[in-house]
Amino acid sequence: MTIGAAADHGGYELKQYLVASLREAGYHVVDFGNHRLQPDDDYPDFVIPLARAVAAGKMDRGIAVCGSGVGVCVTANKIAGVRACLIHETFSAHQGVEDDDLNLMCLGGRVVGLADAWELVRTFLAASFKGEKRFRRRLAKVAALEVFSPVNGAQQSVTCPGGRPISGCVPETLKADAYAGSPAPHEPTEREAIEAWENEGDPN
Ligand code: RB5
Repeated sequence: MTIGAAADHGGYELKQYLVASLREAGYHVVDFGNHRLQPDDDYPDFVIPLARAVAAGKMDRGIAVCGSGVGVCVTANKIAGVRACLIHETFSAHQGVEDDDLNLMCLGGRVVGLADAWELVRTFLAASFKGEKRFRRRLAKVAALEVFSPVNGAQQSVTCPGGRPISGCVPETLKADAYAGSPAPHEPTEREAIEAWENEGDPN
């Protein structure tokens, strides 16, 4: 498993500890920096390259640390294909992967101790996506936001022909394509939209 790690000054100490611990445990780790403690550095400079590498499949998982974990989490989730979350407890560390295919864990270097952080990281890395239909359906709705996402950086509100929000109108076939990372071949027709809406049968 190849793990990418990144941190600003607020997460530097924890990131150094985690990188060393991961290497000792036998993981291949790519350190996206910062490579020195630099009190005026900015977390986007480190987490954006990490998030891009995770989205591109170059890293199996990512770990990003800033002071609170908030800044790196907000930033990472701007990159299509990244599913990042700030994690403080072990339940979410594994359930986030199992149900939501979490691929980038964010930690707060100023709010979590070294031992707790290592436990969270080990839990995150040991978990795998369950891939059940209802989880894929939900993730496809999330991924559809990326497929239908704005061009040229403009914000865009997308609705299906029937006027429902995009999450309620993308047919299963398009959802599958969306989750596989392929562009949707066409906008859903109203008939497809209604069929997809009616076929949302899995209650879990
Ligand atoms: C840096 O002082 C701090 O703001 C940053 O590390 C992080 O906590 C932001 O969310």
